[in-house]
Amino acid sequence: MNPIETLQQKQAQALLGGGKDKIEAQHKKGKLTARERIALLLDEGSFEEIGMLVEHRARDFGMDKQVVLGDGVVTGYGTVNGRLIYVFSQDFTVFGGSLSETHAEKICKIMDLAMKNGAPVIGLNDSGGARIQEGVVSLGGYADIFYRNTLASGVVPQISAILGPCAGGAVYSPAITDFIMMVENTSYMFVTGPNVVKTVTHEEVTSEELGGASTHSTKSGVTHFSFVNEAACIQGIKQLLSYIPQNCEEDAPCIAYESGNEIREKLNKVIPENAQQPYDMRDIISEVADTESFFEVHKDYAENIVVGFARIAGRSIGIVANQPAVLAGVLDINASKKGARFVRFCDAFNIPLLTLVDVPGFLPGTDQEWNGIITNGAKLLFAFSEATVPKITVIVRKAYGGAYDVMNSKHIGADMNLAWPQAEIAVMGAKGAAEIIFKKEIAAADDSIAKLAEVEQQYKNTFANPYKAAARGFIDEVIEPSVTRKKLISAFKMLENKAVKLPRKKHDNIPL
Ligand code: HXC
Repeated sequence: MNPIETLQQKQAQALLGGGKDKIEAQHKKGKLTARERIALLLDEGSFEEIGMLVEHRARDFGMDKQVVLGDGVVTGYGTVNGRLIYVFSQDFTVFGGSLSETHAEKICKIMDLAMKNGAPVIGLNDSGGARIQEGVVSLGGYADIFYRNTLASGVVPQISAILGPCAGGAVYSPAITDFIMMVENTSYMFVTGPNVVKTVTHEEVTSEELGGASTHSTKSGVTHFSFVNEAACIQGIKQLLSYIPQNCEEDAPCIAYESGNEIREKLNKVIPENAQQPYDMRDIISEVADTESFFEVHKDYAENIVVGFARIAGRSIGIVANQPAVLAGVLDINASKKGARFVRFCDAFNIPLLTLVDVPGFLPGTDQEWNGIITNGAKLLFAFSEATVPKITVIVRKAYGGAYDVMNSKHIGADMNLAWPQAEIAVMGAKGAAEIIFKKEIAAADDSIAKLAEVEQQYKNTFANPYKAAARGFIDEVIEPSVTRKKLISAFKMLENKAVKLPRKKHDNIPL
């Protein structure tokens, strides 16, 4: 064989991964191979592989006789819609995608390149965990990746797709990245699997129940997205990338937009006449954002708050909105964590924030207090307060109590605060307030029910409106709902060059 033939033979061998049988087995499980996934993700012909001929160094347990070129992970770079990204894709057909010393080195190499060149890292995870035959060097390899994940956090976007097993300490790399995506029925994540769970706690649980996509998208919130299949998941990665910049020094891509009639009459009718009635906040979002531009994050987790990316006049924004259709839009522990994490991502990557407020307050109860609504609610307050991106708030209905302050109020640095005429901005609901401040009068009245109704109305007339806040300048303008989109386009444009410097510090100490 001449040298060129030798190279070609090695390349062909590497492309086959664990071989035809294992590829077939992978397909039978409804899973794509590592290379098929990369082909779906990247622009055609753009993939440049790095480390195709890497071999592991293990010699124990007969490993010296089992060498597969590439060592169970395909790494390199390419483009998605013309924009550079770095990618690693674990190959389950090679030692179950398990992570060896050299497998880890390949991942670290592209992460280092991503940091030097300022582009996102996409991890396609499908792995049996630490390469059991290698012992501690494999654990060291994981830690090398975790360390880089941490240093890269807030510098370049990191997205993890879980497309098979992801267990044990291996879960902590995706957990540090910005977004996790999972696929129903073929992917799972857990720190300890069903067998260990059974031994320790005597619970009987399947892998899917313990750590499948539906569990993590609804119960734990570990995954931000859940998809029906791998193709949809990879499409999801591309869509997510379209809203975010390459790194923390850049702005998100802006798509061409031709302005037209920006008045949305429908918004005048969204809020029900009865203030206790729910409605779907997404009906407001779809009217204020560019048509079909809303890309919801954490859709099925803590549904009392809605977060996601959208565009306004072609520019990326992040939206945080209370959802009156679920638990009346109350803020609880999970909603606060979900909102805070999203706000921090947007701020780290220069994505302006729009906050839509309809919040009756924080959720009362022992469950919330004992599980730390104080610390967790503070996360959202902290995240909004420290965010220096352009921040606009629209109070569409209720803004009560501490939740008024927390939901990106003027006082914590919002640049523009608007309110609809239906807004109710007060310390608490009229009934509760009247019962406290008119306690004696109600008790002394001949007809205490009538008295309560009277003083409740009195409190409502005084405070359940936006005008007290507007008179103070806490609200910049009270607007007719139909002009909201027009106002937002103008205000985000006005704030385009916003520059704010926070006090010098090593880093902050967000209440974790
Ligand atoms: C080496 C592994 C492996 C591993 C799987 N394989 N996991 N080889 N190290 N961790 C190999 C199998 O031996 C098999 O090889 C091939 O991959 C496919 O595995 P199967 O078991 O046939 O596949 P499947 O039935 O789909 O089961 C997948 C699996 C199972 C659930 C992932 O393989 C499994 O439980 N693996 C062990 C998981 C584990 O305990 N990992 C360590 C976790 S601790 P052949 O040659 O037979 O095809 C950990 C710590 C990380 O990861 C800490 C970081 C800080």
